[in-house]
Amino acid sequence: MPQSTPAGPDELALALDRVGYLADEGLATAAFLAARLGRPLFCEGEPGTGKTALATALAEALGVDLVRLQCHEGIDATQALYDWDFPRQLLHLRAGGEDSLYTRRFLLARPLLRALEEAPCVLLVDEIDRADDEFEAFLLEVLSENAVTIPELGVVRAAVPPLVVLTSNRTREVHDALKRRCLYHWLDHPSLERELAILRRRVPGVGERLAEQVTVAVRRLRAAELLKPPGVAETIDWASALLALGRTELDARTAAVTLGAVLKYREDADRVIAAGLDALIAG
Ligand SMILES: Nc1ncnc2c1ncn2[C@@H]1O[C@H](COP(=O)(O)OP(=O)(O)O)[C@@H](O)[C@H]1O
Ligand SMILES: [Mg+2]
Repeated sequence: MPQSTPAGPDELALALDRVGYLADEGLATAAFLAARLGRPLFCEGEPGTGKTALATALAEALGVDLVRLQCHEGIDATQALYDWDFPRQLLHLRAGGEDSLYTRRFLLARPLLRALEEAPCVLLVDEIDRADDEFEAFLLEVLSENAVTIPELGVVRAAVPPLVVLTSNRTREVHDALKRRCLYHWLDHPSLERELAILRRRVPGVGERLAEQVTVAVRRLRAAELLKPPGVAETIDWASALLALGRTELDARTAAVTLGAVLKYREDADRVIAAGLDALIAG
């Protein structure tokens, strides 16, 4: 990590706060230790609890680039690491080039290789639970070595290890071997106070009363066994929607017509409406 690495968790929390990310003590400590000890940080939690945003905020707070590897079903080493630029190689051949076709300039660096080459940086490996076992094993190898071997070129080793943030929405368990390599942190939905603070920060125009009503209503929705409980993103979206409508207060009627900002499943909306929107915003 760069010279500017904060001296402790409090200082990191302050740096994150400055770029608009509010971390509690547990998360600030985990992130600080990951940076200090050079260990990947494995963040697990419900969607919308600020896992992806943490990596973005860390890069900004530490003044380094963010390199993002978005995982998906079927992702493989080629997509994550590098490809040969076949069209350019072909052009080179046609132009009568005689030197090797397998040099760095014909290599297309994908996120993992870029992170090794560009470090210090923050490497976000987002939603690792979407990838398969084989990819996980491959990733573990790269993260253990902070280096990769490209047969035609040799070893590429990071000058300093990137600060790695892995996230999982826990659609499946990630293997112990990968977790053992990492520091682990579970991100919960924020406390009422923290979520209010996040809302004030992210939607500056929102009045105190509306902010409180929205935050309390979202907490009730989270407690209501829905298919997709709302995350912080939905709290922000809902408040922004109400603000755009010029509302300073949340009533049942307004809640009914703006529910789509916070609930994204028809069954969830039906259920909440059946239970009564008055109950949702009461108090
Ligand atoms: N602690 C936080 N401080 C500031 N913004 C947050 C925080 N947690 C979540 N957010 C905001 O909530 C939204 C959803 O967060 P995101 O990182 O996408 O969630 P996840 O990756 O866990 O699904 C983002 O707009 C993010 O900026
Ligand atoms: Mg995410």
